[in-house]
Amino acid sequence: MADREQDTGDLDRQDAPQSPEGYLAAGLEALEANDPLRAVELLEAGLAAAPEDLGLRYHLGMACKEAGRPKQAMRHARELLEKDPAHREAALLVAELLQEAGFLEQAGTLLGRFVDRNPEDAVACQRLADTLRDAGHLDGALECYQRALQIDGDLADALHGRAGLLAGQGAIHHAEADYRRLLELDPGRIDARIELANLRRRFVPQWHFPMLNDTERNEAFEQAIRRAVQPDHLVLDVGCGTGLLSMMAARAGAAQVVACDVVEPIARTAEEIIEQNGFTEKIQVVPGHSTLLRVGKHLPRRADILVAEVVDAALLGEGIISVVRHARAHLLTPEARVIPAGATMVAMLVDSPLLFNENRVGTVSGFDLSRFNRFSHPASFQKRLSHYPHTPLCDPFEVFTFDFNGCPPRQQARRFHVPILRAGRCHAVVFWFTLRVDDQATIDTGPDNTTSCWMQAVQLLDGGLVAAGEALGIGVRHTECNILFERLPVTPG
Ligand SMILES: C[S@@+](CC[C@H](N)C(=O)[O-])C[C@H]1O[C@@H](n2cnc3c(N)ncnc32)[C@H](O)[C@@H]1O
Repeated sequence: MADREQDTGDLDRQDAPQSPEGYLAAGLEALEANDPLRAVELLEAGLAAAPEDLGLRYHLGMACKEAGRPKQAMRHARELLEKDPAHREAALLVAELLQEAGFLEQAGTLLGRFVDRNPEDAVACQRLADTLRDAGHLDGALECYQRALQIDGDLADALHGRAGLLAGQGAIHHAEADYRRLLELDPGRIDARIELANLRRRFVPQWHFPMLNDTERNEAFEQAIRRAVQPDHLVLDVGCGTGLLSMMAARAGAAQVVACDVVEPIARTAEEIIEQNGFTEKIQVVPGHSTLLRVGKHLPRRADILVAEVVDAALLGEGIISVVRHARAHLLTPEARVIPAGATMVAMLVDSPLLFNENRVGTVSGFDLSRFNRFSHPASFQKRLSHYPHTPLCDPFEVFTFDFNGCPPRQQARRFHVPILRAGRCHAVVFWFTLRVDDQATIDTGPDNTTSCWMQAVQLLDGGLVAAGEALGIGVRHTECNILFERLPVTPG
């Protein structure tokens, strides 16, 4: 407050501006210095001396907006428009103030009329697009961003707006291109930098990095690929990621490799990596889901080997069953080998309050919060069991075995009577798998393997008490991508 009084006093001093131009220059300087209140004082003083000066009035309106005085800003902008209905900046300012106040339809109407009269005004098109977007008219907004960028391809705010809309529609590649162009134009746009990173993270999960750095996995796959590949072989790599396994197949001497990845930026990046490593001649990357591949279009003939490292901690979540079934039916020779060749899923029941707390809540600070459990997810999540204090309630037991060289069933169900070895609460079933990469290489993703990129899958059960010596009924079903365990009701007698 003391500073403000001091500032006001400055206007009375002898070095205060002597002319409307002087007030305008000083006001703009104050705005530049991020002092809009001071700018308002200076510009008001200037306008008192020259009430008809449109420049002073416009900048005063802007200063009022910056100073958080939207009503005053609106009054000046409207007065300006009355005096000069064609005043571009005043029209844009009114529209901006309406938009900020939430009057989106009015702002849109005003800008729409303005754009009709000034169809080559890129900024006005972009502002109209912003308004339409905020009002939920996404198609219209996209059209206006396109129009703004046709007029001025480097209009930063239009690139930013269009990138956001395209990202929302899942057009990742185009959104990425807009963000990249925007960052070339203005590397300081942290909003664009963060949104681009968020976009990439949404489609490219971070687990790719530990997976790619998992030497046990990489070596097991490379050995199996080397053992399988013959010089005349056509290899199909479904879910190629960086192209690592495709390049291993090419290095092992395959005649040709066709790779695909459903995430377009991943597939495009794989193309670059493959080129950088000198394998472009041998490996073709198709962006898209494996079920869209066609022999004669994407593959010159049926493939001799399918590499399909589409396996998550719960084994089935990435869709390996449907990938293998579809490839067997449409993309592979009858004798083709699949890498990985198969897997056995193993489960164990545990008492672990800490694991249970990862996905359930009860009484907290004396309040019953259990209704929030409607948001706890029924499916498994992945954790490293060794990081959680826990008591195994039983020995690990085999759940399902899958043969990927055959035709893995779409769904199966089994029931177990699990001998309970220790009393406790049945908080969770923890499950993992032994991956048979080929006849000679296996990867065990159980709790003892603390360096594997695959952690254990955890699915919570009811946390009910179990007694040593009892046989606990557990049912388990899987579909192509999901698996669900449940405690079976005790049958009387
Ligand atoms: C676990 S990563 C493996 C990446 C790479 N094969 C490797 O081993 O380094 C699986 C990749 O497969 C892709 N993917 C999963 N199912 C797919 C499918 N049916 N068709 C194409 N891509 C798929 C995912 O986008 C992901 O990039």
